[in-house]
Amino acid sequence: MSLRTLAAILALALVGSTCGRAEKGEVRVAAPTRYGFGRPATAAEVRAWDIDVMPDGTGLPPGSGAASQGAAIYARKCAACHGKTGTEGPFDRLVGREPRERFPFGRDPRLVKTIGNYWPYATTLYDYINRAMPLDAPGSLKPNEVYSLVAFLLSRNEIIADTAVMNAATLPRVVMPAHDRFVTDTRRGGPEIR
Ligand code: HEC
Repeated sequence: MSLRTLAAILALALVGSTCGRAEKGEVRVAAPTRYGFGRPATAAEVRAWDIDVMPDGTGLPPGSGAASQGAAIYARKCAACHGKTGTEGPFDRLVGREPRERFPFGRDPRLVKTIGNYWPYATTLYDYINRAMPLDAPGSLKPNEVYSLVAFLLSRNEIIADTAVMNAATLPRVVMPAHDRFVTDTRRGGPEIR
């Protein structure tokens, strides 16, 4: 860095640090409590954004679907990016249970994490697909379509039966293969966090 550049940066830093301070004799006006624009969001607007689904299933909407319906939607809306069977890509692999016995992901970051070998909660699948997929039209799927896709992906990962119907009652009861590999972080943000 040249001296001239350094001097310019220092000068800017000085200007920045004095700006915002009241000069001698200047009268400071308190910020108004309201600026006179905007309005409170309506209940319907808040509902439209309030779509998160919790691990225990809180937030799951009414509706249902099974793998057979999900297969058709998957072929139309997902296969182009995730492959015909969820394994070919070009984007993230959605089907795969290996390695089944051990959980070596911490030791080998190159291992591919999938719904079947890594995700701890089935409900996250609903939340994720509903808010983020398909990548080119997020938020476009109806609850029955999302439930069907979730059922399809869980059955292809050999987690539920092909005929199982997924809805707000059945989905939270699905136990994922990796569920017990995770522990709840009970730290509260005190000195134990470094
Ligand atoms: C245009 C390409 C595209 C389409 C179409 C698409 N996806 Fe994806 N999907 C992606 C990409 C890219 C990612 C990775 C996003 C990231 O990591 O931020 C992803 C990630 C995912 C994941 C998370 C995978 C993981 O283990 O982290 C799931 C589940 C998923 N997609 C499901 C679907 C479903 C179901 C559909 C069809 C409704 C779909 N996707 C359609 C591109 C696509």
